Amino acid sequence: MCGIVGYTGNKYAVPIIIDGLKRLEYRGYDSAGVAVHERNAIKIVRAVGKLRNLIEKTANLKASGTSGIGHTRWATHGKPSEVNAHPHKAGSIVLVHNGIIENYGELKARLIKKGVIFESETDTEVIAQLINFYFQETKDLFSAIIRSIKDLRGSFACAVLNEKEPDKIYLMKYESPLVIGLGDRENFFASDMPALLPYTNRIVFLKDGEIAVLTDKTYKIFDFSGNEVKREPEIMNISISQAEKGGYPHFMLKEIFEQPEAFINTVRTRLHPDKGEIVLDELNYKISERFSSIHIVACGTSYHAGLLGRIFLEELAEMPVYVEIASEFRYKKNFFNKDTLYLFISQSGSTADTLAALKKCKEAGMGTLAICNVLGSSISLEADNTIYTHAGPEIGVASTKAFSTQVSVLLLLALKIAGEKNLLKRKEIKKYINDMLSLPRLMEEALKSSENIKDIAKKFHKYTNFLYLGRGLSYPLAMEGALKLKEISYIHAEAYAAGEMKHGPIALIDENMPTFLINPESPHFEKTLSNMQEVLARGGKIIALASNNDSTTKNYTDYIIYIPHINTYLDTLLTIIPLQLFAYYCAVLKGTDVDQPRNLAKSVTVE
Ligand code: G6P
Repeated sequence: MCGIVGYTGNKYAVPIIIDGLKRLEYRGYDSAGVAVHERNAIKIVRAVGKLRNLIEKTANLKASGTSGIGHTRWATHGKPSEVNAHPHKAGSIVLVHNGIIENYGELKARLIKKGVIFESETDTEVIAQLINFYFQETKDLFSAIIRSIKDLRGSFACAVLNEKEPDKIYLMKYESPLVIGLGDRENFFASDMPALLPYTNRIVFLKDGEIAVLTDKTYKIFDFSGNEVKREPEIMNISISQAEKGGYPHFMLKEIFEQPEAFINTVRTRLHPDKGEIVLDELNYKISERFSSIHIVACGTSYHAGLLGRIFLEELAEMPVYVEIASEFRYKKNFFNKDTLYLFISQSGSTADTLAALKKCKEAGMGTLAICNVLGSSISLEADNTIYTHAGPEIGVASTKAFSTQVSVLLLLALKIAGEKNLLKRKEIKKYINDMLSLPRLMEEALKSSENIKDIAKKFHKYTNFLYLGRGLSYPLAMEGALKLKEISYIHAEAYAAGEMKHGPIALIDENMPTFLINPESPHFEKTLSNMQEVLARGGKIIALASNNDSTTKNYTDYIIYIPHINTYLDTLLTIIPLQLFAYYCAVLKGTDVDQPRNLAKSVTVE
């Protein structure tokens, strides 16, 4: 749950590393550090808190060595402190790590018995000390790394420097992301591509179980047994502006406004309007021929996308669907069924619980499919097949455009299976495709309500509790809206299926408990309207989300956000926009750290 980055070349390393850390800060931000080769030594600087603290401390290091590594941390083992911050040093070895070493306690005890003295409480220092321990014996760092890996249990993306080899950076990867960037007489590595894009788009993806050795002019990849692996770079056509704020005050706002583009990038090549067909090249088989049900597993916002997906798949494709939270799935008794497709949804593709759940299914011999946003991520490599959401890099910790692209892919899947099973005729699929092609314009229209939403947020951001209500497709959307509000504005919000209100939450309603009622045009419209009246009758205030052809809701509340209506399934991608914007403006008005909310991290690569 950290970010690592490094550089070796002909320029000063520290400014490049700091720049990379800025782009990786979303991965963790409770402390940071750099290590740079300086003459025959390695200079290490670490600082607690946000990156700006490290920047101040490294001001006089700007023109030091041309090879170094950096780290931004999200604490797992050991509180955020300078001594627990990376890089960690052991003998002549200096190391940064993203991941978690599960057997670090056992390894630490073993090393302490051999006389090794530890400075920090981290699992990472155990890796550094272990490598150094074997290095004493082997006198060869590469062999020492291979020996150490055999002892490690857990996940790691590590970069290792050796005082005695100023021209080399050693990398090792298992279940945590790591990519290499190739330049001209300079090479880079990072946990994620945005850190490299200002410098190069020639990217080499490391796979789990690989070691790489970088110099300024070369990169060599090996498996964990030391056999060389040949891999060519891929040219990534992601622009740097996609990975930067592009004039918006926050990444989150930029990413909310990028949704029309992210949607079209995700669906465009998969829609074949002439044939009335959805084409998913990633699937080399027909789901309906191999599977009779689907089991979705995910965390957080991706889980909410899965809940919407269930309704799409059940209603359109007549596929029974079960949706489960990955952290629950991985430890429960599972009744595996070969007729069930296990579908994993993850923006980052590196969420530890989702990855573990996927591995559990694979070990049981189940068929697996992933929906991921990050190319070459652990989950995408592990699953039998992966359908990518082409949302582009998502930097704001609160997921927005990744969610809408996940929902879009789930809708594509449902339509595709419905086509395979002849539940929808080509003509009907054509109609959905045409609606999809006009959706970006409607999303732009929904985004125009941002001023109205900002005004409503001004009236409501001081409340400390919120209820979100919706039925059918609006229920998972209520859950996602409530999650967004909690995550970034720290306002407590609870989502309920509107029909459940009478079984408890109604007792909470008074003038201090506003309700966000999600009620676009749908078969549930009238019923949800009744729930609205129940809230009003008890003195509750209502913010209502309605379709712009609705003339009833305005009779009951002054706080209405209208969205265009196209069809119930695609409306979900319009409904989500005001929910994201409302949470965003409440957070801005409260002055919270929107892109890096407290205690959260973008990709949760630990349990
Ligand atoms: C974290 C993020 C959420 C995200 C969840 C699952 O909690 O803050 O925004 O939804 O992880 O992440 P994934 O990358 O698996 O979708």
